[in-house]
Amino acid sequence: MNQLFQRKPISELLAESGQGLKRVLGAGDLVMLAIGAVIGAGIFSSIGTAAAGEVLPSGEVVRYGAGPALILSFVLLGVVCGLAALCYAELASMIPQAGSAYAYSYATLGELIAWIIGWDLILEYAVGNIAVAIAWSGYFNSLISAFGVGLPDWLTHGYRTALLSSDPAVHALLETAPRIAGIPILLNIPAAVIVLLITWLLYIGVKESARANNIMVVVKLLVLGLFVGLGAMHIDPANYTPFAPNGWKGIHQGAAIVFFAYIGFDAISTAAEETRNPQRNMPLGILTGLAICTLIYVIVGIVATGLVPYQQLKAADPLARALEVAGLPIASWFVAFGAVVSLSAVLLVFQYGQPRIFLAMARDGLLPSWAAKIHPKYRTPHITTVITGIVVAAGSLVMDENEIYDLTNIGTLFAFAIVCIGVLVLRHTEPERPRPFRVPFVWGVSLAGAAACLYTMKGLPTHAWERFGIWLAAGLVLYFVYGYRHSRLRKQG
Ligand code: ALA
Repeated sequence: MNQLFQRKPISELLAESGQGLKRVLGAGDLVMLAIGAVIGAGIFSSIGTAAAGEVLPSGEVVRYGAGPALILSFVLLGVVCGLAALCYAELASMIPQAGSAYAYSYATLGELIAWIIGWDLILEYAVGNIAVAIAWSGYFNSLISAFGVGLPDWLTHGYRTALLSSDPAVHALLETAPRIAGIPILLNIPAAVIVLLITWLLYIGVKESARANNIMVVVKLLVLGLFVGLGAMHIDPANYTPFAPNGWKGIHQGAAIVFFAYIGFDAISTAAEETRNPQRNMPLGILTGLAICTLIYVIVGIVATGLVPYQQLKAADPLARALEVAGLPIASWFVAFGAVVSLSAVLLVFQYGQPRIFLAMARDGLLPSWAAKIHPKYRTPHITTVITGIVVAAGSLVMDENEIYDLTNIGTLFAFAIVCIGVLVLRHTEPERPRPFRVPFVWGVSLAGAAACLYTMKGLPTHAWERFGIWLAAGLVLYFVYGYRHSRLRKQG
């Protein structure tokens, strides 16, 4: 039993940190990286479902929408993520290691929990990217349709989307799509193509450089600025009533899905080994990035729900649709363009991050050593890059965006809760270790942070819990079949 909870010494993590990597990033770069990773499908796409709710074609209510009170969902999530971010900041400044939450839990809660978190982070990185790719496709189709170009609907909608959509036109695709052996062919081709393209870029080593990221962040901020600036002039105050059509339940369930918009501020902690003075810059980057994104979300939420009745936000491209409905087709085109750029950036960051987490786990012996192999010419973890790419592309071909948001959110919230608890545990087990950044009122913040994450998880539909349970069970089986026997830490004794 003790072996299962054996902890990796922080001194070992620190010794691994920074090997071969250049420390080039400052606090400003980290804030830009955070905005690059955070602002994406959540704000450009999931807000439609968060505001309007979701009803199956059978009439079953999957979730209640927040309505214009979505603005409150954003504020509450800012607080939930703020608590988790403080905890991330303490651990990232204390253990500046690329493995992020995986490495922190190895040091604080032991190997079994570290494995669970590593396995869980697949939901945040790889599975999350399936939803980002589907959202990308929604905006891409809206962009090219402005030129009168378009693919047939059965090549832009995945099977699960058609099955679950309450939009009669989309649901009808199940009947009208061509069939092979009686099975309707419904594939989201643009979503899979963009994933494969990005995989290829990462394979040959076009790493998401800070400079390219900065350009994409500027585009992202400009189009959101355009949305807010033009949209604000067309707000109809009548759209704010009723403000919270489903009361607290809607605000809570809306928050549980739009939480996706916040994912990513934690991902910059994986850049800890490439950061100058990470002890100071990590907390600054994480907390400032989160504060800026929260502010942007609240403002975009106010404009989006004021522009059109909230039910009309339910679309594959809600922000572009809102402008179009409000009679601003050209602005709508620019927003679609900006969304395509923004979502590409998010895809790149997470598609880049996933193989590196596998790499950290393989180095520890929890995954086979081939997962840590580096391409001799391109110097990239090519095998896991390709595997991640194929799995994400296949998922985005057929899956539904909303069910993926749910699964990613439940997994990420769980990881956040563990990080919050980890801070407290480490204060107890290693009280003397220097902490460049200390969570204030640590008991209150970490317990409230973990509780707030669990409460947000509670707002997700039952199917998300079931799938999460299956995912964790599969991970445990894998651990006992492989990682438990091959762990490097255990071999050292
Ligand atoms: N927060 C990121 C997004 O919304 C994952 O796309």
